Formats: sequence, C-alpha cells, structure tokens
Amino acid sequence: MARADELAAHSEQPGGLTRVSLSPEYRAASERVMGWMREAGMTARLDAIGNVAGRYEGERAGLPCLMLGSHLDTVRDAGRYDGMLGVICAIECVQALHSAGRRLPFAIEVLGFTDEEGVRFGVTLLGSRALAGTLDPALLEAKDRNGMTMAEALRGFGLDPARIGTAARSRGELLAYAELHIEQGPVLEAEGLPVGVVTAINGYTRMRVSIEGTAGHAGTVPMALRRDALAAAAECVLAVERAAASEPEVVATVGRLEALPGAINVIPGGARFTVDVRAPDDARRLRAAARIEKEISSICARRGVALASERTQEQGVTACSPWLIERLARAVEGEGLRVRRLPSGAGHDGMALQTIADIGMLFVRCANGISHNPAEAIRAADAAAGARVLLRFIEEFRPRELQ
Ligand code: GLV
Ligand code: MN
Ligand code: MN
Repeated sequence: MARADELAAHSEQPGGLTRVSLSPEYRAASERVMGWMREAGMTARLDAIGNVAGRYEGERAGLPCLMLGSHLDTVRDAGRYDGMLGVICAIECVQALHSAGRRLPFAIEVLGFTDEEGVRFGVTLLGSRALAGTLDPALLEAKDRNGMTMAEALRGFGLDPARIGTAARSRGELLAYAELHIEQGPVLEAEGLPVGVVTAINGYTRMRVSIEGTAGHAGTVPMALRRDALAAAAECVLAVERAAASEPEVVATVGRLEALPGAINVIPGGARFTVDVRAPDDARRLRAAARIEKEISSICARRGVALASERTQEQGVTACSPWLIERLARAVEGEGLRVRRLPSGAGHDGMALQTIADIGMLFVRCANGISHNPAEAIRAADAAAGARVLLRFIEEFRPRELQ
C-alpha cells in the first residue's frame, strides 16, 4: 500500500494522479519500480517502447518465463491501484522467493507496461502490443494533445523509434502471462470475496463521430431554422444509451463530447464525440455498434446535419486460458477462499499478449466498484490476499504441457 502511495506521487498535477506514457512522471515511476525490482533480486531495464522489464532467473539462466505484471500509466485524474497493484504485487512475490533463496524451474518476468490506457495518443495497449510484436509502426505518427508524435515522445524519453521492433518477444520465451488487477467493478464486494478469477476480457468497439451543422447567432435564428450540431449530438448520446440497453450485458459510453466553436451566444456548428461499446459476447457488441451507427445516421438525416463516423478500434473478447483459470482457482482455494469466476468489463494488457501467450487474470476487490476515479480504494488485507494467491500460483505453476 505504501508503494502504491509512493507511485501516486509521480503525477503531472499536484494533489491528483495523471501519469501518461513517456512523460517525466512516467520516467520517475519507472526508476522507482526498477529499484524495487533490483532489491527483489531481479535485473531491470526499460525496453524499446518504455515498458519496465524485470527478470528473476530460474534454476539456470535463460529459461522461458512466467510473465507477470500490469501497467504503470494512468488515466487522467486516476486512482492509484489500476495497473500499479499488479506490478507491485508481482514484485512482492519475487521478493518472497528471493528472500527464501528459491529458484524455480522457469524464470519470472515482471512487466510494468507503458500506455495500456491509451490516454496520451488515443490508442490503447501500446506497451503490450510492442511486446507481442503487433504494434503498427504507423502509430509512431499518432499525436498527443500537444501535437507531439509518438516518435518524438520516444526520442525525448531517450528511446529510438526505429528500434521499437526489438521490444517484441516470441511465444517460445513465455510459458504464460498472469496479471493481478483490481476488479474495477462491484461483484466481489457484493459477494464478500477478496479475490476472483477472470474468465475473459470483454471486447470493445470504439468510434469517433463528427457532426457538422450550421453555426449561427444564438439570438436571431428561429428554432425551426437551425441546424444545431450539439442538439443532434445530444440525441445521439441518448441513442447510444438505448442501443446498449437493448442487448443484455452490453455497455456503451460517450466519454468525450465537444461543441464547436463553443461560445454561449453561438449555435454549435460542429460537435464531436467518442463512443465506447463493450460486451462479453462479440455478436451482441457488434449488433449494438451497428444499431448505434444506424440510429446516429437517421438522427442526423432527420435534422439535416452532416455526419462522419469511423470505428477507431475493434477488439474481440479475449478468453483467459482454461488451464490458467484452473491453476488460479486452485491457488485461491489453497488460500482457503471461495472461488468466484467472473468476466472483466475493463480492458487489460492480456488482450495484446494473447497472440504470444496463454493468459490468466486474478482480480482483487475494490471499494464500491469505483475505478478511473481518484476515489479508487482497496483494503490492505485484500491486496495481501491477492499477493498470497499469486505467490501460491507461481510456486505451483508448471508449463502447460506438464499440466
Ligand atoms: C482500460 O482501463 C479500459 O478498459 O478502458
Ligand atoms: Mn484503467
Ligand atoms: Mn488497468
């Protein structure tokens, strides 16, 4: 808990937590994490995209690894556990092995991924996609809100954009990827359980929508003659809400909405907004996304405003591997706890890593299901329970072919 507090101090704003990738705050947090890794008997380095990578060798050097970890970047005005708890607990587990002088028949790597949240460049999972070798080099030209490209940000951080390919790892190097993360939802709390085993990570569709109407004088244009882009967008937001409610377990969010030019006495001539649609079932998510597009298009046609809409990211459901779900469940039982299996509504680095490794996830209860919010809170006892389950999972881990 003290380490989570310490990392939370590395923020772009005082009195709150925002730490985007490749920033000075991200550098300071990375240095701190690498220090803890070295104390725990690991080698530690920054890879070519800015992930923190720690390694604890097994019985002999160079063995394939069980990869653990989570991310070190945050959303804006974030909580202090989303991401960080998984990195801190994994280091704690290695520290326990190191203190006992134990080496296992495999190496352990702990990753602190950069840019899982996608806050800086508007695209998620950058660190884990680079590690999986699936990061599209075209993204190097993606810009942050100040117009700085990812390539420039990498250079400013002391990294060479031409070398991001060297962050890629191969399937043979990883025995599995297991991530501990706060639940970010209310299920475990409602059931009085400190931990849960994740079955799958819900998929998502993301869209960017832009509406063009006609800007005009707020005092002179009669209501019937207006082409108000923001009023159209407002109807669209409600259509998004309705479309999600029409499919079981689909959720949809307009998280960003902008009116242009944005003045009290000007009818908005433009409106831009984002849509994020998620579900534990790809068919239902795609149906809801299609319905959203259809309704938005008919609202805009009826109101006589122009519409441009594009899907910016599409990610199917990521299943956790049954054998890792079972190994994690056994570790939960081994700690005397009831096993609760549940899907993850939030995205995680495992979505990217699934192309090179089987993945598993362990959730730790959080207070009131609140996350992506400075009020995010967990109990120390739950963090300890999560770390103990993770340690047991590591100690009992055997590669898939030896299950
Ligand atoms: C990441 O936290 C996401 O699910 O958006
Ligand atoms: Mn998050
Ligand atoms: Mn997270």
